[in-house]
Amino acid sequence: MAKDLRYFLDWLRTSGPVDFVEIDRQIPRDLYMTLIQEKLAKERKYPAVMFKNVAGYDWPVVTGLFSSYRLLAHALEVAPTEPGQVLAEFMRREANPIAPVPYSGGTGPVQEVVLTGEGINLADLPIQQHCQGDSGRYITIGCLICRDPVSGATNVGTYRHELKGPNRMGCMMNPVQHAETIRARYEGAGKSMDVAVFIGHHPAYHIGAASRGPLEHDELAVMGGLLGEAVEMVPCKTVDLAVPAHAEVVIEGRIHPGSFQMDGPFAEYAGYYGAQMNVPIIEVTAITRRKQPIWHDLFPSFREHTQVGLLGREAQLYRRLREIVPTIVGVHLPPSGANFWHCYVSIKKRVQGEGKLAGLAVIGSNYDVKHVVVVDDDINIYDDEEVLWAIATRVQADQDCSIVTNSFGAHLDPSAYSETRSEKGPMTTKVIVDTTRPMSRKFPERVSPPRELWDSIDLKDYLPKQ
Ligand SMILES: Cc1cc2nc3c(=O)[nH]c(=O)nc-3n(C[C@H](O)[C@H](O)[C@H](O)COP(=O)(O)O)c2cc1C
Repeated sequence: MAKDLRYFLDWLRTSGPVDFVEIDRQIPRDLYMTLIQEKLAKERKYPAVMFKNVAGYDWPVVTGLFSSYRLLAHALEVAPTEPGQVLAEFMRREANPIAPVPYSGGTGPVQEVVLTGEGINLADLPIQQHCQGDSGRYITIGCLICRDPVSGATNVGTYRHELKGPNRMGCMMNPVQHAETIRARYEGAGKSMDVAVFIGHHPAYHIGAASRGPLEHDELAVMGGLLGEAVEMVPCKTVDLAVPAHAEVVIEGRIHPGSFQMDGPFAEYAGYYGAQMNVPIIEVTAITRRKQPIWHDLFPSFREHTQVGLLGREAQLYRRLREIVPTIVGVHLPPSGANFWHCYVSIKKRVQGEGKLAGLAVIGSNYDVKHVVVVDDDINIYDDEEVLWAIATRVQADQDCSIVTNSFGAHLDPSAYSETRSEKGPMTTKVIVDTTRPMSRKFPERVSPPRELWDSIDLKDYLPKQ
């Protein structure tokens, strides 16, 4: 069986309700699914959720596939109890890309149903409005495929698409993105750009789509590497591109030169609404899908948004840090910092000043990070409370904190400032908090139970039976 969305959901089912919840009760399409995810989060629960009965639609909707580090572990077939292994496995798989291959099984599952012409109506898809202040209904986790007219390279990236009509949807691409560079090349030549957006696949596809590299970098090969098998591709029906045969849905179309419309406001990952902007419009030429499709959605103003590309960012940081601090043990961008703005680094400190050096290496390697906390390797960087405890018991602010002002930062940080500081801009202040214990004086011994005793005790043997 190909590793697709169904394969992954079957995998999750065996893991139980910590990772996967299926809801039978009927639910409205808009606002409710995100609200239920938020309510679960208030109870510190971050499972993937399948809504089996969305009013007015035959399709089940699955969401939250990236909401926890455990789920990222599942995507890479690592034990979810071993967060420290997830990054290592990601880096191993990312370094071994597997080129895509043509699908050899006849009609690809994603083309069991082909809708063209009058048969196209985007409103028939269970695309939802996620938050009250959003301007409309958005596809939030499609992978957009296009081809660079200069190099011929295929590009894949995740972009949001707002419904604009039965056969029209937006495509919000920041100027830095490869897809936008490619679109501008078509626009410059006065030509339309063929695109295909596939929705609903194994999460490794989306993790791969978020991987960074030069424009020619083949995201489909990265996806293959992350999956551990080649992505099988079928030719599209109405545009000159190919798509993964085992996706749930594909929307084919064209972006014509000069075709733009307003997009937003839109609830963004930092937890605030993003401003309106003019975005290119896709004219849809076909919708292809499975006979009984599953719709994959992502809650954009939630941690699952920022965790899709998390491992790629952590891997990049880890590689750079290792060159400067070879005793690095781990690096994590926790959800408490929107998976961008806090960075926890653990090291096996060998020399005085190494904690500060690690912090400087982080802020010199990644412009998003605002607050770096460097810890000794007895602190679990996947546990905010432990990191805060290290700050409480190992830090004196005047000697262990360093502030760097006026550096370039993230545009979605609402507190970012301009050169004059009087208005919003792209600049932020960075802080390094070095919690590593001093080497030049004895530090009290940490209280912790003996390892063998800890490992020998299973709470189930002591607590009352449920
Ligand atoms: C869930 C999700 C939604 C995203 N939405 C957008 C978006 O609407 N616009 C955008 O410019 N980037 C968006 N991104 C970031 C791009 O997908 C990401 O930078 C990707 O690497 C771009 O690929 P490309 O440069 O190869 O085209 C999103 C990322 C994720 C994970």
